[in-house]
Amino acid sequence: MCSVVGYVGAQKSRVAVLEGLRRLEYRGYDSSGYACLDAHNHRLMYVKAEGALKNLVRLFDKNPIDGRVGIGHTRWSTHGAANEQNAHPHFDCHKTISIVHNGIIENYSSIKKELIAQGHVFHSETDTEVIAHLIESEFQKNKTATLPQLMTSVVAQLVGAYAFMAVMQEFPDTIIAVRKGSPLCIGVGDGEMFVASDVLAFAGKIDRVIFMPEQTFAVVTKDDMQLYNFAAERQDFVIKQLDAQWIAVEKNGHEHYMLKEIYEQKSVIERSVRFFRTLQDNFWVSIGCTKEQILSLKKVVIVACGTSWHAGRIAEFYFEEIVGIPTTAVLASEFRYRRFFPQDDVLYIAVSQSGETADTLEAIRFLKEHNQHTLALTNVASSSLVRECDGFLLTQAGPEIAVASTKAFTAQLTALYWLANRVAFERKKITETAYLLAEEDLLLAGVLLENMIEQCKHEIIDELAPYYAQFDRSIFLGRHITYPLAMEAALKLKEIAYIFSQVYPAGELKHGPLALVDDKTPVFLFSHPDPVIYQKILSSAQEVKARKGKLLAIAFEGQKELIDLADNVFIFPMVSPHLSVIATIGVIQIFVYYIALSRGCNIDKPRNLAKSVTVL
Ligand code: AGP
Repeated sequence: MCSVVGYVGAQKSRVAVLEGLRRLEYRGYDSSGYACLDAHNHRLMYVKAEGALKNLVRLFDKNPIDGRVGIGHTRWSTHGAANEQNAHPHFDCHKTISIVHNGIIENYSSIKKELIAQGHVFHSETDTEVIAHLIESEFQKNKTATLPQLMTSVVAQLVGAYAFMAVMQEFPDTIIAVRKGSPLCIGVGDGEMFVASDVLAFAGKIDRVIFMPEQTFAVVTKDDMQLYNFAAERQDFVIKQLDAQWIAVEKNGHEHYMLKEIYEQKSVIERSVRFFRTLQDNFWVSIGCTKEQILSLKKVVIVACGTSWHAGRIAEFYFEEIVGIPTTAVLASEFRYRRFFPQDDVLYIAVSQSGETADTLEAIRFLKEHNQHTLALTNVASSSLVRECDGFLLTQAGPEIAVASTKAFTAQLTALYWLANRVAFERKKITETAYLLAEEDLLLAGVLLENMIEQCKHEIIDELAPYYAQFDRSIFLGRHITYPLAMEAALKLKEIAYIFSQVYPAGELKHGPLALVDDKTPVFLFSHPDPVIYQKILSSAQEVKARKGKLLAIAFEGQKELIDLADNVFIFPMVSPHLSVIATIGVIQIFVYYIALSRGCNIDKPRNLAKSVTVL
């Protein structure tokens, strides 16, 4: 979640480091900092600031430090408040060692106690600071230690998943980069090197990259890099061509990235369908399967977090109802701690916008250890998930900047729906005509998504959003495929409008949550196109109204009783349940967006959150 960026080269480092941090700021915006070694006397200099990166940039007007070796950081707080004191870089007692860090040192508390007993003085509440003091302590013990020996003795004492960089006065012109569990990559240039949490930090500037392997550290100078395992043994490494480009994404006249991304969804679906049409028979190879494996498949398990998990929960219905294959979407953070029953003929699909979510990656690593078949469904071609799974299918959302996932969710649904149809066709569950029609249906869902936003937005902006913005809590209900859709809507309301939103399968209402219904707790009810399920939803609506609840319904044409009963209603054309979730999501996102706007929230960067969740 934090980002680390380092530069060593002929140029001064500040511009390169700040540019990298700016590109990775989506990973955390609680504070930022920069440290460098003075080119002449090799003394460490640093600047740090609370809040967004722009606060750090302002400080350089008064204190324009720069140096040929520099490291920087943007923070998503884990240990200690989001203030300047806890901002990285952190230092040893004599400020000769500087550290920036992403991840968590789980045993920091016991290390800190020991170091304090040795006389070390700490200045922050972070887990990171122990790394600097530990390096100092190990160095004091053995002044003649080489860098690899020193780092080996340090990492042997650290427990957790982390990536950190160290710059030390004792070893000028050098960045030490350490990776265990959190991603770190090294950009190789001519006479310059970058180190960063993500290739985006330097994409477009250089075209070669080394993805540091698990449990390694690198000693990086401007012309050279040496890689070691945690036993200080030299390791070979692979330099890859870097295809990723940095495309500066603008808001195109919209007030927020989220709004721009909501409006892009129709074109995301169109781009996805165009992309699917380019996938020929070798498609199975790219997703790491053979056709035979697809034919013998007995189960699909989708592993994901947050919004991506909601896409997976919806896709359960796609795979079960279109392919006829049992499918479960599991939360990556829970999955690893449950008893595992290895089975043959199971496809594990890891769904992730970023491809860097730590819980999802750990679940995949666990599955690989058990020889299970894994497929990455992600938006980022250069991500760890793509590298670590057996195969991949790229979603076509394009860069998503707002923390709240909107177009990435729709791109995931589009890809999962298409994949289910493709697998069903291969297994002769559907005809070729039906398979081709599925692509047309997706395009239609995209048109509906956009048209419905246009149709509903004035009422949302003028009346509904300001009205519903006054409530501090709400209940969301859905059933069958609209239950995970309600989960996604409730998550969005919590995430960007800070409204406590509890979500239930509608049938559960009478088993307890009905006690919460009152005139201060609006109920957002997601209907369903199927007439049988609709009748059940209608009963839930009546239960709410009988308790004087405020009811907003997402209904379909012809559902007259529900439309009459609700206080407010969005009415959608009748489409298949599978596509209804795509057709309705745009209006829901816009509704939540304007509620958050009415409440004066920081929409693109909600408090306490970050775009990419790289801690476990
Ligand atoms: C969605 O609005 C959230 N930002 C969050 O739930 C996100 O979907 C989750 O952290 C998973 O991220 P990923 O898709 O990059 O793996």
